[in-house]
Amino acid sequence: MDTAFPFGFPLPTAFYITTYVLTLAIHVVFMNYVLAGTGWLAIAYLRKSPRGPESSAGILKDWLPVMLSGAITAGVAPLLFLQILYKQEYYTANLLLFNRWMAILPVLIVGFYALYLLKSRWLAQQPYVVAIVIACIPWTAVAFTGYSWTENHLLSVRSPQFWGEFYATSSQVYYEPQLLPRLAMWAIGSVPTMVIFLAWQHWYRGTGRPRELALIAGAGLFLVGATAAWYYLVTDDATCLAFVSPLARPYFVLAILGVIVQALGWGWLYVSEQFSVRKLLVPTLGLALTLIGMTVCREAVRITTLGEDRFEKMYPTHAEAFGKGGFFVFLAFFVINAGLCSFVFWLVRHRSIPTQIEQNPPTPQEPTQRNQN
Ligand code: HEM
Repeated sequence: MDTAFPFGFPLPTAFYITTYVLTLAIHVVFMNYVLAGTGWLAIAYLRKSPRGPESSAGILKDWLPVMLSGAITAGVAPLLFLQILYKQEYYTANLLLFNRWMAILPVLIVGFYALYLLKSRWLAQQPYVVAIVIACIPWTAVAFTGYSWTENHLLSVRSPQFWGEFYATSSQVYYEPQLLPRLAMWAIGSVPTMVIFLAWQHWYRGTGRPRELALIAGAGLFLVGATAAWYYLVTDDATCLAFVSPLARPYFVLAILGVIVQALGWGWLYVSEQFSVRKLLVPTLGLALTLIGMTVCREAVRITTLGEDRFEKMYPTHAEAFGKGGFFVFLAFFVINAGLCSFVFWLVRHRSIPTQIEQNPPTPQEPTQRNQN
């Protein structure tokens, strides 16, 4: 693999792996919002921070149910391509983890309903400790799901001989040293992503303080660097070299550039103390670069771990699937579903903004920031 992603692959593989990376990046955006957002909400309840409609916790409470649906729905498209690209690997890991793996379904359902309970009037009549317990459930459910995906992924890239030995242990829990730092990178990396979207939501409502969000995003970016160092220390050299291999190098540079652009954007927001479209676009652009860059690097790490020979042996399966057609059907359903999802988001926005305006009507002397920009 001495050509940059995806140019060195045959057409069917290049097509599936590119579509996989792009759709996975969309999943990551939603997933990051719910992972960090549910954590933020749990902390807000524990600290008894303000949770009114203008506060960050209030916005999260309002939006998290639909964003969780978004994360789950957006996971389906990469799942389809994953099954074509790495069929044996993915299903073997699923079967080996068995009930442990399937547990993500009931767990996510519980987390989902807990988010709705947080919005209910019923909760306001309960002792505060009940609210705290319920506020911690969504994060636990979402974090457990993230942990399961990482565990499943790491097991899927092991050798068939390893799978045999793992099966013989009858264990349904898989652990290896890079699991925790990898998970930590996902968890902490979710914070700057979520904060950018939260900032856009504050801008839209004309609420929030850029300084607070800039500090949290900055801390998130710094800590991602620390977890990356941890990952580097516990991971073998071949895996680390995948990041700078010809396959991934341009994307690794892109990802780092994205982090720098995000940091500069947040610095600008921190000093200017006001949200505006121009200022918010800078960290958003940086985030897009980092997400695409890191998703490609993640794929380069997988191919390196599997080994080039093993990956190349999958090419005929990709070509066979490619020959079956169905692309336009996929595209049609993608467009229809994207339209339906956008409609659902529009409905949520439509219903959430008036609530805030009804409770805090802007006075003529106090135009919202959105109107100013
Ligand atoms: C909302 C809770 C979820 C969270 C927190 C979450 C988190 C994650 C994480 C952390 C990864 C990366 C694992 C790694 O590289 O170590 C991942 C990958 C992935 N997720 Fe999700 N996920 C969630 C729900 C879902 C659902 C419901 C689906 C499917 C419908 C899905 C589809 C995928 C796919 C296809 C991948 C790529 C797996 C691979 O390449 O091996 N996710 N998810």
